[in-house]
Amino acid sequence: MKLPDFKVEQWMNDYENEAVYNLTDTCVKPLVFSELMAMADENALMDLRLDYGTITGDSQLKKEILSLYKTGSEENITLMQGCLQANESLMYTLLEAGDTVIAYEPGYQQFTDLPKSFGCHVIILKLYEENGWQPDLNELEEAMKNDIKMIIINQPSNPTGVFFSEEYIEKMIELARKQSTWILSDEVYRGLYDEPSISDIYEKGISTSSLSKVFSLAGLRLGWIKGPEEVIHLINVRRDYSIISTGPLADMLACAALQNKEQILSRSRKIIEANRSIVSQFVKDHPQFHIVMPQYGTVGFLGYEADIDDTMLARQLLADEGVFFVPGSCFGSEKHMRIGFTCETETMIKGLTKLAAYLERK
Ligand SMILES: Cc1ncc(COP(=O)(O)O)c(C=O)c1O
Repeated sequence: MKLPDFKVEQWMNDYENEAVYNLTDTCVKPLVFSELMAMADENALMDLRLDYGTITGDSQLKKEILSLYKTGSEENITLMQGCLQANESLMYTLLEAGDTVIAYEPGYQQFTDLPKSFGCHVIILKLYEENGWQPDLNELEEAMKNDIKMIIINQPSNPTGVFFSEEYIEKMIELARKQSTWILSDEVYRGLYDEPSISDIYEKGISTSSLSKVFSLAGLRLGWIKGPEEVIHLINVRRDYSIISTGPLADMLACAALQNKEQILSRSRKIIEANRSIVSQFVKDHPQFHIVMPQYGTVGFLGYEADIDDTMLARQLLADEGVFFVPGSCFGSEKHMRIGFTCETETMIKGLTKLAAYLERK
């Protein structure tokens, strides 16, 4: 089974270390280990036996994860090593060659290229900035005339930061219910505020997430799936062939983080909100830039007007000014840059000033 390069991840791998002003990171400034340890029970950690732990995830941790949702019990949760793996396991478990899937573009490449790689037909619904990156209901209705096995959404989205409207999601559920379609919602950017989860509102809705983004702990590699018991059972059968468990150390540290989630999330909100206002002001002051400012999540999609393609611009900006972005082409949309509201405000201000000056010279 062949997979194409994962453009955004490849771009990050190739260039991230050269960044002086990293304006594209999706993870809110990661915590250092001592900050996490200050939240943990040191004695319990010292006494922790490093066996496989509870295979599908520590029970206390599952309870903490459930506190992020409105419905469900421990039987609706299984742990994974990150959200990416959660998505992969779900797709491998629920999809087969010949199935048809709906996904959106611009979007995260995993949602289109992974199902394609094992023989699914993927219907891509395009999103446009002039519609606020919101999808078109008529296009969904048209696509749902096919036999659809799964709809894949990302709420809030990478790269646009947009959350599909309540009205659209309600209609999507109505259409999905008619043919028993799964809705997989990657909710890795959810959690800063009280955003709804598909797993709370649709009986065949599955939510995936992790501690990587708004919880600032990507290095723990701790994610999860929340969904119907039958799906969790199927995933748990599959995990025996792949990861066994996430291990008791990651589980215990994750539990400490979630027990202190208000502290972590208020830090994240402060960073994100400060950067959002800097970017809003920047766009007002510089008419060659535009953005649909997202309400949720950690990223947005900054558009620009200039006669230079986004990959070239991103390369030159990094080489000449140390300013780092992921170009929109990595998500299937040109003349945009994925911006992360996650860095120090000082970095954001300096990086944006350099960006504007650079584009002016073009
Ligand atoms: C939409 C989306 N899903 C999943 C991931 C990866 O999450 P994790 O670190 O939990 O594997 C990313 C990371 O950029 C992402 O943008």
